[in-house]
Amino acid sequence: MSESTTIRWEQDETGIVTLVLDDPNQSANTMNQAFRASIKAIADRVEAEKDSIRGIIYTSAKKTFFAGGDLKDMIKAGPEHAQDIFDSAIEIKNALRRIETLGKPVVAAINGAALGGGYEIALASHHRVALDAPGSKIGLPEVTLGLLPGGGGVARTVRLMGITDALLKVLLQGTQYAPKRALDSGLVHEVAATAEEMMAKAIAFIDAHPESHQPWDVPGYRIPGGTPSNPKFAANLPAFPANLRKQLNGAPYPAPKAIMAAAVEGSQVDFETAITIESRYFTELVIGQTAKNMIQAFFFDLQAVNSGASRPKGIEKRQVRKVAVLGAGMMGAGIAYSCARAGIEVVLKDVSAESAAKGKAYSEKLCAKAVSRGRTTQEKADALLARITPTAEAADLAGCDAVIEAVFEDTALKHKVFQEIQHVVAPDALLCSNTSTLPISVLAEGVERQTDFIGLHFFSPVDKMPLVEIIKGERTGDEALARAFDLVRQINKTPIVVNDSRGFFTSRVIGHFINEGVAMVGEGIEPASVEQAAAQAGYPAKVLSLMDELTLTLPRKIRNETKKAIEEAGGTWVTHPGEAVIDRMVDEFGRPGRSGGAGFYEYGEDGKRGKLWPGLREHFTKQGYEIPFRDMQERMLFSEALDTVRLLEEGVLTSVADANIGSIMGIGFPAWTGGILQYINGYEGGVAGFVTRARELAATYGERFEPPALLVEKADRGEVFTDS
Ligand code: NAI
Repeated sequence: MSESTTIRWEQDETGIVTLVLDDPNQSANTMNQAFRASIKAIADRVEAEKDSIRGIIYTSAKKTFFAGGDLKDMIKAGPEHAQDIFDSAIEIKNALRRIETLGKPVVAAINGAALGGGYEIALASHHRVALDAPGSKIGLPEVTLGLLPGGGGVARTVRLMGITDALLKVLLQGTQYAPKRALDSGLVHEVAATAEEMMAKAIAFIDAHPESHQPWDVPGYRIPGGTPSNPKFAANLPAFPANLRKQLNGAPYPAPKAIMAAAVEGSQVDFETAITIESRYFTELVIGQTAKNMIQAFFFDLQAVNSGASRPKGIEKRQVRKVAVLGAGMMGAGIAYSCARAGIEVVLKDVSAESAAKGKAYSEKLCAKAVSRGRTTQEKADALLARITPTAEAADLAGCDAVIEAVFEDTALKHKVFQEIQHVVAPDALLCSNTSTLPISVLAEGVERQTDFIGLHFFSPVDKMPLVEIIKGERTGDEALARAFDLVRQINKTPIVVNDSRGFFTSRVIGHFINEGVAMVGEGIEPASVEQAAAQAGYPAKVLSLMDELTLTLPRKIRNETKKAIEEAGGTWVTHPGEAVIDRMVDEFGRPGRSGGAGFYEYGEDGKRGKLWPGLREHFTKQGYEIPFRDMQERMLFSEALDTVRLLEEGVLTSVADANIGSIMGIGFPAWTGGILQYINGYEGGVAGFVTRARELAATYGERFEPPALLVEKADRGEVFTDS
């Protein structure tokens, strides 16, 4: 066999061939060119040596079983590579198919994560045994990268579990199952506690099945649950695209539609034709822009961010053992839970023992829910709760090696609470504030060790939101930054790093989305259309409903403070047309948002959101022009992206990956874009196309859409936004 083989052939004296997946050039196995050649050579050999083979086991010498498609190749693939991609997908599938149809038993001994291509190899086996390794995951998450499983994953899951289950359980959400859940959901046949047990089970299957075939290769096989050729099934079929449309809310994600088409079309033809259909849809997605955007963000950028590209180098990793959380309100309670869940001791302090206990009660509620849903055991939940000590006494914070402050958003109060505790906690404790808007450098003035002071901006609800924005103040030291980064990773969240500035990155940029949506209402655009424009652009929250949730008085307060600060520093405040709308809503109509019982929407007695307030159409009348739907969407998307470029110019943002990940995970910038700067890179016509379009928007809707100098320079030089 050639040097470059990625599959090792190991045959025992009983005739069992173990195919050890082990790419010598990579830490994980992928479906790259070398694999394609290797699997073809293996298929040739098993056919040639069929008589001496009793059974075949796929397993891997890596920590993971198999990682999936080669994303480094895919992200570069243009339309000119379409034929190659198609041919390559077909070649791999043909080789797996030849092994699968030999008549000999084929078992996948899944020793670690088998996602995407890895699970597709397992699907091309007659029996699947998964090792219950910690953190191991099984599934087909391609949809989350804008792709579909192109290694036979659609054709085989449809045949294994029927169209409905294949779509809902595996393909459309890209769910990743832990081994035991994979067993319950029918993705694998057996789970083993040890590697030895896994191999023993694999051999036992071979012993018991000297001849073996896939269910779909046995005469008389029917796809479970039926296909569109069955009138009863066909009658229900229209519900599928309708449900999908509802789920996607009109947002431009091509993968779910392609997956559904490949599943339904492929179910009506023989297996070989189904694979060809699947490969066509796969190729279409790979050469398209959305997959490139999503691979960039959810694979490359996320990896860079989490692995510490923005963490200062050469500083030893440290773990926090005991954290003080100051303020047991909504944020403090959530932070306490997230820290305790990660095994950190938490002292949760509030003004009274009652409020502190109320903060802990939040964790009790979350734990009870997790136990009742089977997501954790009572024992683990009890241990988590035992780690949280509620208190009103500063003395209880002795020995804490980190502090996270989450009291009311008030500089003087924050100064006061830090002064109270700075000599009680460990002498070198990391000092963090969860402020959402106040300058970190000003808050740092309240403590003696300003180099150890840093911003740690969590998002609500803390237990669900994966992002934390770390804000480096003027005097924050690298050591503190590294420790803050490590703390965020310790609690399994994703840290982005920015320099101090009003609103930092996330709060400042989301303000543009809101302002632009609200400004359109002021121009007399149908409010329901504004909401629909946001949804169809792919924003997870509609703009006016989000505004109501945040309350209209909050951006007003922030705006007034920012305006004052800018003017005091000798600058000029540029008024946004959205401001007047918010002012009228609050002052003239008394509608401050959901918590005030009325906002852009109406609310019932129980606080439940009703319909859009009819008064909007009455008080904000049309300005005599119609706005194309695309302009409505792009006013929101561009206003956010343009300010992100300004933040790069100002040095608040220093990493493209941080901006992309922060925008998607923190403030709901649409995921199909690959993040806020990738949106510019991937815009039609590239960065130059984006600049042209920004100028068009500026000419029609106002100077705020003028492209900043950095953007124009990038376009002129033919560059894209990248960290490399
Ligand atoms: P909250 O009003 O729910 O909680 C504040 C808590 O601080 C209350 O329990 C209060 O009793 C306590 N507190 C007040 N004075 C105290 C003192 N001297 N010592 C100890 N505790 C004291 O507020 P929330 O929403 O939890 O916000 C807290 C901080 O987090 C604010 O700075 C806010 O800007 C920031 N933040 C809020 C987000 C949100 O979505 N609500 C998101 C990100 C940051």
